[in-house]
Amino acid sequence: MTNGTTYQSTPAGNVDLGDAELNERIATGMAEVEVLLREELAKSEDFLVDKVMHLMEAGGKRFRPMMTLLASQFGPGAGSSEVVKAAAVLETVHLATLYHDDVMDEAELRRGVDSANARWDNAVAILAGDILFAHASRMMSELDTHTVGHFAQTFQDLVTGQMRETIGAEGRDPVEHYMDVIHEKTGVLIASAGHLGAYHSHASEEHIEALSRIGGAIGMIFQIVDDIIDIFSAPEQSGKTPGTDLREGVFTLPVLYALQEDGEVGEQLRALLTGPLTEDDDVERALDLLGRSQGRQRALADVHRYLVEAESQMDRLPDSAATNALRMLANYTIQRVG
Ligand code: IPE
Ligand code: IPE
Ligand code: MG
Ligand code: MG
Repeated sequence: MTNGTTYQSTPAGNVDLGDAELNERIATGMAEVEVLLREELAKSEDFLVDKVMHLMEAGGKRFRPMMTLLASQFGPGAGSSEVVKAAAVLETVHLATLYHDDVMDEAELRRGVDSANARWDNAVAILAGDILFAHASRMMSELDTHTVGHFAQTFQDLVTGQMRETIGAEGRDPVEHYMDVIHEKTGVLIASAGHLGAYHSHASEEHIEALSRIGGAIGMIFQIVDDIIDIFSAPEQSGKTPGTDLREGVFTLPVLYALQEDGEVGEQLRALLTGPLTEDDDVERALDLLGRSQGRQRALADVHRYLVEAESQMDRLPDSAATNALRMLANYTIQRVG
């Protein structure tokens, strides 16, 4: 089942949030999310359960439930059963998008194990993703109509982002196009975690809004960092195959910046990257050229811009252990690329 890599997922629940009491509260909440996830995902025929459990059990950072629980710390209902359910909804939707994303990206490795499409086939992976949406919908219906309506928009944005990526920039500025795509496919879901965590803990409107924006900015950071990792990291670190985006002809931010570069590296990349890369040698060459370009550095400059945005929204929150933890979480997201 595994491919022999030593991929280590770091559950966000194990991150030190800088305050012992908060660490404990979040760890308790994360454990409750795990129990609920397993209980909910078991509500299908066995031949579906083993397929959805495949990636659930493979690990993952559980970043979105973590963000939900942290955002709930700003209201009187911190860590309530509604918050835990909202956190489980977030992870279930995320998991569904991973199944579908790996089909679209023809990815072979996910969370350090074979992707569902590689382990079984595309049909199984698509249906496993679909059943996860069914589970998420049931949990949402047990919350309230605000949550259902909110998620309708989140789903719409997610699909719009994946479709926008699939269609390509179509003559638009490619960096602007990329930013729209990642806002929709990744930023919106982490913004939802901020929104729903705060909402279900009955936080103030002002704090719900700030936490949603913080989630959105962290989401942008998260995806840019992920795209840097796709190019510059070994599978032992990421649990995924490097260069997957290049093989699909999806040019992410570091690549877009490198393609703009004057000089030999830029020229060679422009000649090489005219579509999907099918030969391993070409992927190797592209990765080497990208390593010699300014792509990584320029993408990291954008990451820091979103960090400033996240931190400016944190100024709207009270000076507390939870706000400090959000600062640490934003920085932890960046540390993945060093
Ligand atoms: C992967 O998300 C998809 C992106 C939005 C980059 P994560 O990096 O949170 O994946 P897991 O949950 O830890 O596997
Ligand atoms: C992640 O897209 C966004 C979603 C899963 C919706 P990517 O294709 O960039 O993510 P990874 O690198 O496969 O995790
Ligand atoms: Mg992918
Ligand atoms: Mg993708």
